[in-house]
Amino acid sequence: MAGLRCSSRTWTTYLCLVALLCLFWSPAVAVKEHDFKKCDQSGFCKRNRAYADNAATQGTTWTSPYKVLSEQVSFKDGSLNAIVLKTINAEGATVELPLTVSFLKSGTARVTVDEKIRQQKNIELRHGSQVRKERYNEAEGWAIVGGLDVDTEATVASQGDAGIKITYGPEAAYEADITYSPFSVAFKRDGVTQIKLNDRGLMNMEHWRPKLEKDAKPEGEESTEETVAETPAAEDESTWWDETFGGNTDSKPRGPESVALDITFHGYEHVYGIPEHAGPLSLRETRGGEGNYEDPYRLYNADVFEYILDSPMTLYGAIPFMQAQRKDSTVGVFWLNAAETWVDITKAKEAKNPLALGIGSKTNTQTHWISENGLMDIFVFLGPTPRDVIKSYTELTGTTALPQEFAIGYHQCRWNYVSDDDVKEVDRKFDKFNIPYDVIWLDIEYTDDKKYFTWQSDMFKDPISMGQQLDAHGRKLVTIIDPHIKNVGGYRVDEELTSKGLAVKNKEGGNFDGWCWPGSSHWIDAFNPAAIKWWTSLFKYDSFKGTMKNTFIWNDMNEPSVFNGPEVTMPKDNIHHGGWEHRDVHNLNGMTFHNATYEALLSREKGELRRPFVLTRSFYSGSQRLGAMWTGDNQASWEHLGAAVPMILAQGISGFPFAGADVGGFFGNPELDLQSRWFQAGAFYPFFRGHAHIDARRREPYLLAEPHRSIITSALRLRYALLPAWYTAFFHANQDGSPIIRPMYWTHPSDEAGFDVDDQFFVGSTGLLVKPVVEKDKTTTDIYIPDDEHYFDYFTYEKLATHKGKHLTVNAPLETIPVLMRGGHIFPRRDIPRRSSQLMRFDDYTLVVVLGKDGKAQGELYVDDGDSFDYRSGQYVHKAFKLEGSTFTSSNVGGRDFASVKKGTWLKQFANVAVDKIIFVGAPSSWSSKKEVELESEGKKTSVSLDFHKAEGGRAAFAVLGRVGAKISADWSVNLS
Ligand code: NOJ
Repeated sequence: MAGLRCSSRTWTTYLCLVALLCLFWSPAVAVKEHDFKKCDQSGFCKRNRAYADNAATQGTTWTSPYKVLSEQVSFKDGSLNAIVLKTINAEGATVELPLTVSFLKSGTARVTVDEKIRQQKNIELRHGSQVRKERYNEAEGWAIVGGLDVDTEATVASQGDAGIKITYGPEAAYEADITYSPFSVAFKRDGVTQIKLNDRGLMNMEHWRPKLEKDAKPEGEESTEETVAETPAAEDESTWWDETFGGNTDSKPRGPESVALDITFHGYEHVYGIPEHAGPLSLRETRGGEGNYEDPYRLYNADVFEYILDSPMTLYGAIPFMQAQRKDSTVGVFWLNAAETWVDITKAKEAKNPLALGIGSKTNTQTHWISENGLMDIFVFLGPTPRDVIKSYTELTGTTALPQEFAIGYHQCRWNYVSDDDVKEVDRKFDKFNIPYDVIWLDIEYTDDKKYFTWQSDMFKDPISMGQQLDAHGRKLVTIIDPHIKNVGGYRVDEELTSKGLAVKNKEGGNFDGWCWPGSSHWIDAFNPAAIKWWTSLFKYDSFKGTMKNTFIWNDMNEPSVFNGPEVTMPKDNIHHGGWEHRDVHNLNGMTFHNATYEALLSREKGELRRPFVLTRSFYSGSQRLGAMWTGDNQASWEHLGAAVPMILAQGISGFPFAGADVGGFFGNPELDLQSRWFQAGAFYPFFRGHAHIDARRREPYLLAEPHRSIITSALRLRYALLPAWYTAFFHANQDGSPIIRPMYWTHPSDEAGFDVDDQFFVGSTGLLVKPVVEKDKTTTDIYIPDDEHYFDYFTYEKLATHKGKHLTVNAPLETIPVLMRGGHIFPRRDIPRRSSQLMRFDDYTLVVVLGKDGKAQGELYVDDGDSFDYRSGQYVHKAFKLEGSTFTSSNVGGRDFASVKKGTWLKQFANVAVDKIIFVGAPSSWSSKKEVELESEGKKTSVSLDFHKAEGGRAAFAVLGRVGAKISADWSVNLS
């Protein structure tokens, strides 16, 4: 997208952009890979890979030049402090690197390494630069919101000249075994090493050094080459002082400063996480070989136009959190660093017994983390379950915000709905065809000349009446607001941004000017608290005129995308609030903008406090606290449909589960089968939005020929029916970070065969197992069965599986979504189709009880007003359902005393909501003679009719309790004996 040059007049700009986009875009062509660096084009990545190669070549003779000064080690109140000495030349000169190892109450350990001379700000910057001299130490301030309390119970188990051992964690079952020379830390659980830092000796903190001019050459011989003191001759210095890529030169005022470390997961064959990449959930090896990547996984948030699949290439967001899995054990690490980062992964077999010739050998996954600068700051999680690991990680970085309820309904978007009349017409058409939806979106063309907070007044003459029409059916509007602010006279937002000094600065200290949708633009520096405050003022209803309480926001292009910048983003030597270079903070940038908008939406008028909904494209660890993300500019192809599920699963297990992909595919025109299949898959994305590029044909579901319209309508209705189950899954994500859609390794960590399955998933703890069909003309699909439970078809109640490991082939003609129900679960549903989620808020429930092998089942419902924060003061209903023996009970979770909760407006209204029916799938034949059963609720006994259907063909027996009538918020029970 670099190099767009259009005038700034509305239509000229518009046509020019469309023309340019058409020129650039062709469905068959993927991303311009050469616009983005490979490791060997990124100086610090190349240097660190060379460092690793050198160590490998030297084999056992390689010794890491880092050692702890044993005499200065101190341990107090759960924290160890020491100095690591790095030997920097053959003469034995050293630099001091302060080390802290802290042990947190959650059982997490944290290892931080800094550089003394930079802590003391005792360095010289080049080019007269005014940027900060320290290593960037504020990532914690953005990413971490809790969980840092230190475990004062952690104790020194032994200490000697060679090292120190600390026991910590639950029942003191964990141990950090720190070896002084060379420096390494082994993390053990129950005496067994799980994770080892600097295992292969690849730790490398490029220390600060002055740039020295090379000795002048004899007169007459010219040389502009330069070199540096104390540098081993073998090092490649060519990218130490400046670096050019794609015509942009990075001035590097602090010289080389990368941080790198190898981390080995002992005995672990699978690693997951470090989104965002378009590839398999179980991460591939990255140093070549069959089926492996050649390049490390890269984390450098970027606007990667039409990304390629199955690639370690960077995408829009970065979460440097990785977990490793082996049978019955999950562990993880979080590399807290906001700079450009690369991660190499290799797997090595290690024989347990050297004489056993591979028998009993185990695989170690070796990782090598390489960041351009900043602190070395690592959190280590010892599990042992996936749930434990994500819980500890989200204790630090926060959990998913409990969303606005509408936000988990269906979102209808395209670039662009061109006028308020267009929006109204789309809204009417959805109603005419009885298709539910909750939100319609406005992309950038609604603005006056890409000036955010304004309207293109010819086309959007009356935004309020548009909002009111939507509101009549409880629907919402989302408008896009990007971080680039048009640099043009007379535009209030730009004038305020620049006059208040709130824009990102260039390396000379002036306002950075770059190119994006509006042409010449400035960027809000959302790292600056004053900028957040100002940004908040722009969203007030009386400031952003035309918006209403049902308007919410989409933040796009916040990597940030700069069309004429290096790698389509900002120059690394730009300067942010506090004097930090863009290089220091790049991967945080998107989150800070998302955060500013979140803050702005918290309250748009006095007295209002509501849950914001903000979609972001760029993200970092912690973004989950602020809203939803989507996977950016995919394509209308079967391959992209297939790629979406592993990407969304990766988000889910990495703490940011409110994720989706553009349904239908952003670029191109999906064939009808593809569009139908995509809606079927999308109905099971946590964030469910149809979106299309400006050049794509209109594809609102009602426009499609039959059977597609009906297929898509059914998928949407299925989503709406299951909204209570989705909302309950979001509640759990909000409580403990658990993913909303869950891969097999996460739900079945003992089942090794499921560890690389990433094309099917469970929805929360509902027991619904979904396998979207992502191939053309497929009418059957194979589902992996991860355990010995009973599995029933969701729609037909056919009992399909009872045994683990089986790849079950199920029929999946175009009109069918393969969804199984696992025995042992109960999930809530609302069966009356309506136009939007808000219109369903007081509908009665259906409970689906799927009997397990042992005849038991359990499940939950969490519900609140779906809009305010009143749930925090008890305005919610949380029920646990249980079938045990012949008794079905509904009770308050955790024995909550619901009766004494002072009921607000919503709870009072909700008090009348009842259970309509209960469906028992796999009902025992002993119920066949029953016609009525006894319900006990609110002190009264009544009888309820039971309709038993005996097993027939492959279909399991089922029973329906009709017109139950018990209030969903009350405690009640049914006696089925
Ligand atoms: C890029 C986004 O990824 C896409 O979804 C959006 O339609 C365009 N920007 C225009 O705003």
